[in-house]
Amino acid sequence: MRSMELLENAQALVKRELVLTDNVLAQVRAEFQGTLRSLGDHVLSVSGKRLRPTILLLSARLRAQSHGMAPRVAAVVELIHTATLIHDDSIDEAQLRRGRSTVNVEWNHQVATMLGDTLYLRAFELLTELGEDQVTVLLARASHTMSRGELREFLFRDNLIEESTYLELIWSKTAAFMGACCHVGAILGRLDEAECQAIRQYGEKLGMAFQIVDDMLDYSANADRLGKETLTDLREGKMTLPLIAALQSSGRDGDFLKEQIQLLRSGELSGTEVAEFVGIHGGLHYARDRALSLTQDAKSCLSELPESESRSSLELIADYVVKRER
Ligand code: IPE
Ligand code: IPE
Ligand code: MG
Ligand code: MG
Repeated sequence: MRSMELLENAQALVKRELVLTDNVLAQVRAEFQGTLRSLGDHVLSVSGKRLRPTILLLSARLRAQSHGMAPRVAAVVELIHTATLIHDDSIDEAQLRRGRSTVNVEWNHQVATMLGDTLYLRAFELLTELGEDQVTVLLARASHTMSRGELREFLFRDNLIEESTYLELIWSKTAAFMGACCHVGAILGRLDEAECQAIRQYGEKLGMAFQIVDDMLDYSANADRLGKETLTDLREGKMTLPLIAALQSSGRDGDFLKEQIQLLRSGELSGTEVAEFVGIHGGLHYARDRALSLTQDAKSCLSELPESESRSSLELIADYVVKRER
């Protein structure tokens, strides 16, 4: 099955709830009026893959009919995610997001900072109105972890990092939040504590694989299909698993890395040449194997949960994550 079909099939079960989630997001978009309207339209009119709402909604119906509040909480996690992307693009000086120009390009970095903050805060306002304290605490904690992860990653820029450091960073910037999405879904779906922990583990493993694949796509994807630029991570000084593995197998050191970054920035080396280096030295193979094994771990966490259509959809999501091309 093609990757988009896998995602569509996995989302079919929660299609109706995803529409309700989109309705909440449309309401938030409509709150941007007057001079703010074009900003709200820019970031909330084009949707991404809706992966975090999907895993939340599927987790919420692992045992019974989903909780009526789930689509609102799903909208909250999508808003938080959108806020992180706006900030991330400003930090990364990215040009393109979801196939259109980024807020930092269309407006500027100050606007991106404040718009990201606005969406974060609107998300938490919506969440506190729901009065589900445990859900609020878990999402606050995961958002905090994500911010710290982005900050730590930034401070590591231009430096050689070990695989173990890379794994820690992607756990905090991506995996912890996906784990929390599943966990809060499970709380709304009244799963018991052991089941909540199992689904959270699933989400974290999935998130690790998701970020590894994202980092592979930076070296290997078609930018048009991806909707964001490729071959940018190393130019930004970001060391990701495909490169870490390629450096390891080629026996190159930190001096070589610094030199490559300089050459890239001065235009004497192209991103394509770095991608070739990564490919030749097995970096993409290595990363794919790691991602595949993490999705297998994710699927084995699901075996602790009752068999259901939702569980099968979450399995499909794990398959999708390694096959995805955008
Ligand atoms: C991008 O997330 C940021 C990462 C964690 C790699 P997605 O790839 O889920 O972005 P959208 O929501 O589909 O645009
Ligand atoms: C972003 O990581 C992860 C977040 C949690 C925001 P990346 O910088 O790799 O994401 P993209 O490639 O810009 O989407
Ligand atoms: Mg980025
Ligand atoms: Mg990336």
